[in-house]
Amino acid sequence: MKIVDLRSDTFTKPSPEMWEKIKSLDNSCIGDDVFGEDPTVNELEERAAKIVGKEAAVYVTSGTQGNLVSLLAHTNRGEEIMIEEQCHIYQNELSSATKIARLNVNVYSSDRGAPSIEELQNIIENNREKENPTTLLCSENTHNYHGGAIIQPHVLREMKQFAVKNGLKFHLDGARVFNAAVGLGVNVTEITKHVDSVMFCLSKGLSCPVGSLVAGPKSFISEARKYRKMVGGGMRQAGVIAVFGLVALEPQWIKRLDEDHKNAKLLAEGLQSYDLPITVNEPQTNIVLVELMKKTRIFKIVTELGKEGVLSFNISKEKIRFVTHYGINEDDIEFSVEKLGEVLSKYLN
Ligand SMILES: Cc1ncc(COP(=O)(O)O)c(C=O)c1O
Repeated sequence: MKIVDLRSDTFTKPSPEMWEKIKSLDNSCIGDDVFGEDPTVNELEERAAKIVGKEAAVYVTSGTQGNLVSLLAHTNRGEEIMIEEQCHIYQNELSSATKIARLNVNVYSSDRGAPSIEELQNIIENNREKENPTTLLCSENTHNYHGGAIIQPHVLREMKQFAVKNGLKFHLDGARVFNAAVGLGVNVTEITKHVDSVMFCLSKGLSCPVGSLVAGPKSFISEARKYRKMVGGGMRQAGVIAVFGLVALEPQWIKRLDEDHKNAKLLAEGLQSYDLPITVNEPQTNIVLVELMKKTRIFKIVTELGKEGVLSFNISKEKIRFVTHYGINEDDIEFSVEKLGEVLSKYLN
């Protein structure tokens, strides 16, 4: 039976080039990374830092770990931080910011990830009376729960200006920052130059089996490295997995993300062509959100779609998320549009 897995770009598997590259590894390519002696990890970190225009980078096990070590390295325990209300750090990282980093979290609202600077300033003013200062601003680009929305570089510049004015550092959860860059048709540094630190994932659209990177100033990265060890991310001969990232960071592999964006558009257009009580976002990158305008049991739709061969994910009681990625082609999209039409008509008409 044909299965099109649109649950997430985390379901991607490595490319033939990646499997080819791993064959070239031998013992001279690996070492104890906790001692900084794994040449493959070192090469990946250097390349990652260069690509996003930062002084240094550190390889971490996951995006969640990357965000956590970034928060820990930027702040002191008890301080206040500002994060967007729908962001992954707040919604999906199991309260690590409060439980592990012991930070007080202030959430701000946004227009698909882009905040009002006035609201940010009000939050700061309201915190002035508090014992601990606000020291960190976070953003997410692209924004997952806002349907892969891109936060424009000029918005990031305004956020950075706000951060500097108020003595805050600025961290970007850039799990899909290359999707943002490819979607805008700019070099990723046009985005990352506005932030002090960025975390990006190799294990999503870039289709590596595992791993993320955190990049920023040298002093920040050496702190992040200590925190990585503290949270169990010292992986020793990690070159055996980091090697996938060397292929993933090749320019042509990053450019390939454009195919995913085109497929997301095709999917959205196919769904919009149906006369059904649904709202479909105009995807800017690789995420399509379908909002059901009629009250119904969403999990039944997701389950039935799965039985028909289209796997998806309900991110709320009203919204189903579809993520395009490496391994999904135009035929898969056509198949998915057809199945979605059948299943949605059954439940919504
Ligand atoms: C925006 C965003 N940030 C961070 C993460 C966490 O990455 P990981 O699953 O590697 O921990 C995800 C995962 O989906 C994400 O979508």
